[in-house]
Amino acid sequence: MAFVTCIAPVNIAVIKYWGKRNEELILPLNDSISCTLSTEQMCARTTVVASTRYNENKFWLNGKEENSNSPRLINCIKDIKEKAEKVESEASKLNVHICSENNFPTAAGLASSAAGYAALIAGLASLYGVKGDISAIARKGSGSACRSVLGGWVRWHKGELADGSDSIATEIAPASHWPEMRILILVVNDARKKHSSTSGMKQSVKTSAFLKYRVEKIVPERTDQMVKAIKTKDFETFAKLTMQDSNQFHSTCLDTYPPIHYMNDTSHAICDLVHAYNNIKGCNKVAYTFDAGPNACLYMLEQDVPEFFTLIMNVFPSDLDSVEYVKGMPLKVSVLSEQLKELADNYRHNTGALKYIIHTCVGDGPQVLREP
Ligand code: DP6
Repeated sequence: MAFVTCIAPVNIAVIKYWGKRNEELILPLNDSISCTLSTEQMCARTTVVASTRYNENKFWLNGKEENSNSPRLINCIKDIKEKAEKVESEASKLNVHICSENNFPTAAGLASSAAGYAALIAGLASLYGVKGDISAIARKGSGSACRSVLGGWVRWHKGELADGSDSIATEIAPASHWPEMRILILVVNDARKKHSSTSGMKQSVKTSAFLKYRVEKIVPERTDQMVKAIKTKDFETFAKLTMQDSNQFHSTCLDTYPPIHYMNDTSHAICDLVHAYNNIKGCNKVAYTFDAGPNACLYMLEQDVPEFFTLIMNVFPSDLDSVEYVKGMPLKVSVLSEQLKELADNYRHNTGALKYIIHTCVGDGPQVLREP
C-alpha cells in the first residue's frame, strides 16, 4: 500500500474560459488567464491510497462517497497510469481510494472543482512517479483545473492539435512577481449553483452567436494585452481588461438561449459600487470578476485594501467583531472621506447582504504534504 496527501489552490480567471471545441478531451475555444490564490486561505486537500487489496477505484468528496465511474475521473486515472507505465512504476497496476476535502464551499462558483482535480492529479502524479507537465491531465478532470497545477499568473493555451496535447497551462509570472496584489472574495451566496459551468457553456456554444464573436474577435488580442499588463504590473490596464472580460462572459450567458443568470442584484450592486469608487479615485483601484455564480472576486493592491474594505463595511453593514465574517488574512479599517461616506449612504439601501468575506493573495501551485 502507498499513499500521498496533496493540497492544491483555487484559481480565478481574469480572461474567462467559456466554451469547448471538444467535450471529451475538454479542449477550450479560447485561451484563458488566471491568478492562483494562496492555499493558506482556500484549498482542496486530497489523499490518494493505492493498494493491491482494492478491486475498484473509490472516491469521497467532503466525506460523502461520489460516483467513481465518472468518465472524467476515469480518464484522469487512465492518463496517469499510462504515463506511469512509461516510467515502469509498480503502482500503475493498483486501484486507488481518493478522499478529497475543500475548506471552502463546493460548487458555489468558487472554483472548487479546479482545486479538487489539481490536488488529485498532483497527488496521483507523485504516487505513480509521473514527471513533467500534468496540466493536460488535470484539464481532462475539469478545464479550469489545468490552471491550478501552477502558481502565480497562468495562461491556458487552447492549443491547435486534435489530440489536445498542446492544450496546456504555462506560467506567465510566479506568485512573487506581484506581491502587492490582494484578492477579496465577497461571498453573496455559497449554496450550490443552479447551472453547472459544464452545462452552461455547452448551451452557450450551441446557441450564442456572441460567443463566436468573443472567441474570434475579442479574446486573442485581449489575452495578449492581459499578459503584458501582468508582466509590467500595470494595474490600471489589468483592472479594465478583467472587468471587461467578466462583463463579456456574463453577456454571453445572457445571449445563451434560454439565458443563464449567474449574477444577482447584489452582484450588480457590487459592480456599480466598484465603478463609482474608481471614478472618485480618478483611476482603477479595484477590479471585479464573477465566475459561474453571484460571488464577487475583487482584485486590488495591498495599499488600497483598508479603504475599500471600510467602504464595503459601510455599504453592507455587519458585526465587525464576528470572527466568521472575515476569513483569511486580517483586514484593517480606515477613515472614509466625506465623499466616500456619501457614496456608502447612496448604496446602502440598494444592496442585499453579504455572507462573508475572504481576504487572500496570490499563491503557489499544489504541494505534496506526505510523500508516498
Ligand atoms: C466561469 O472548468 O468548471 O469559471 O471544464 O466543464 O469542468 P468544465 O468547466 P469549468 O469552467 C470554469 C468556467 C469559469 C471561467 C474560468 O474559470 O475560466
